[in-house]
Amino acid sequence: MKKIYLVAFLMCMGIFFVFAGLQAGQDKEMPPAEAEGFWTYITDTNPYEQWEFMPGHEGMYPGQSPHGAYLKLYANDIAVKAAKAGEPMPDGAILVKENYGENQKDLMAITPMYKKKGYNPEGEDWFWAKYGPDGSVETSGKVDSCIQCHKTAPKDMIFSQPK
Ligand code: HEC
Repeated sequence: MKKIYLVAFLMCMGIFFVFAGLQAGQDKEMPPAEAEGFWTYITDTNPYEQWEFMPGHEGMYPGQSPHGAYLKLYANDIAVKAAKAGEPMPDGAILVKENYGENQKDLMAITPMYKKKGYNPEGEDWFWAKYGPDGSVETSGKVDSCIQCHKTAPKDMIFSQPK
């Protein structure tokens, strides 16, 4: 009889560890605030081209210096959900901006911002990066130029507020 209790106990433990493992796996799904791992995430693990656009900024639209003449602004699920609810961008929100030339065809650069709680409290916890279309890293991290300019944005360092 005792053996049955032991087996039941072990089964419960097994189920517990499977769920704990799944939970840990979910946390691991968010990328590091580091240029290469982040690029792998947005192009392979969870490709940004399959995301929605930032609400109110659908498709291609004209941009201004220092970004491309034309832009596309993708937002991950976390960012879209917050945008639609009119809430500030939470931990894990990612905006990926494609910067195109005058002809609206040549992709010049990809400039994302990624909110990682505790990463840079003085800079609203945004991780910044600039990639060439092939994923080559031009700059990344707590990039001062991005921060200084985006500080002047209306809210949460975001110029293109959701509409
Ligand atoms: C001199 C000012 C300036 C600098 C420097 C700058 N940006 Fe921006 N950024 C803007 C403006 C203005 C917009 C709004 C879109 C537009 O009109 O180009 C924008 C838009 C964005 C967006 C879309 C979300 C939003 O805020 O509208 C992202 C993402 C972004 N920039 C990333 C970056 C990154 C990464 C860097 C640094 C490598 C950077 N930016 C440097 C001015 C700047």
